[in-house]
Amino acid sequence: MNQTTPEQITLGIETSCDETSAAIYSSERGLLSHTIFSQPQHKMHGGVMPEIGSRTQLEKINPIVHQALDQANVTLDDITNIGVTHKPGLPGSLLVGLCFAKALAWEKKKKLIGINHLEGHAFSAFLQYPNIPFPHMCITASGGHTAMYVINGFGDYQMLGHTVDDAAGEAFDKIARLVGLPYPGGPEIEKRAREMNFKDFFSYPRGKKDTLNFSFSGLKTAVLYDLVKQGKFNLVQKQLLDDSEELKNQVASSFLVCVADIFEHKLELAFQEHPEVKALTFVGGVACNKYIKQRLADFAQKRGIEFFSPRAEFCTDNGAMIAFVANYKALQGKFSDMSLDISTNKHHKHQSDL
Ligand code: KG4
Ligand code: ZN
Repeated sequence: MNQTTPEQITLGIETSCDETSAAIYSSERGLLSHTIFSQPQHKMHGGVMPEIGSRTQLEKINPIVHQALDQANVTLDDITNIGVTHKPGLPGSLLVGLCFAKALAWEKKKKLIGINHLEGHAFSAFLQYPNIPFPHMCITASGGHTAMYVINGFGDYQMLGHTVDDAAGEAFDKIARLVGLPYPGGPEIEKRAREMNFKDFFSYPRGKKDTLNFSFSGLKTAVLYDLVKQGKFNLVQKQLLDDSEELKNQVASSFLVCVADIFEHKLELAFQEHPEVKALTFVGGVACNKYIKQRLADFAQKRGIEFFSPRAEFCTDNGAMIAFVANYKALQGKFSDMSLDISTNKHHKHQSDL
């Protein structure tokens, strides 16, 4: 950091989906506070309900931001910048955070910085490991997005591939629902796969081998048709015919191993094209999965490169990653103006705009 730049204290706000989160990040003292409210209401619906999401954001945004300020022992007057997720995400949820951030920035005369949620995830490992070397490879996998990048530095990225249909976390959630397991599916599938010692019972197809893009929708269909073939699912009634714990566990274990194999294969391809990378990071909600984490750590070790994956608090949606990236942009003098809008588009062609 430039020694003449005064300390930047950035408030980060994240409301893109079903988490309301805020954090305070200082350019000199690091993360000062982090508060997250995860909406519990979606569990009983088996997925995120957008309208409930945005209404709950509206209810929680003020207390969550004030908690973050209190925990950091700062007031709004101490803040220099306000970073806010403005894309991609659910429109109603994004609007709550953006309007709140704009109102604060206008009233308190603070700098406003719009942050791409995916850029937040991509740098989330820095919150725990500040010295990750560049260039490095990054896999971001969550309920809303799955992509792979080469990251050359702050603001300098190249997207290598992304999902052409479902995100990895979405696939975990859909498979869980298919066999009658609760939402979110990822943690439950991992728990059951562990009980089966991560054995691959059904050898689901690993998808196209020659592309860096991901496709998880085909895998979901393959799991369904395998159950139909085994006489365990009735397609007409859309009903699971075998409700045994054993079948659920076997599907969970085979599915998890298949997803880990897919990630590993994509990485092999990506590393052939980019032998220069010095490290691998694994971020997003799916990076909470200890089995996939271990498989990717083993992959990195074999290649002789470092592996970084942050703790769960920074993997799932969080305001700390938004505050961190916004703080960097503030140091680079990259600010937004009051015309900042939301966008729900997941993939942006511009290489410096994840
Ligand atoms: O990052 P996140 O909180 O929200 C989005 O941006 O989507 O990710 C949530 C996703 C869910 O789909 C959930 O099933 C998945 O992350 N997830 C997991 C695990 N924990 C959460 N997937 C696999 N294994 C896990 N242990
Ligand atoms: Zn996310």
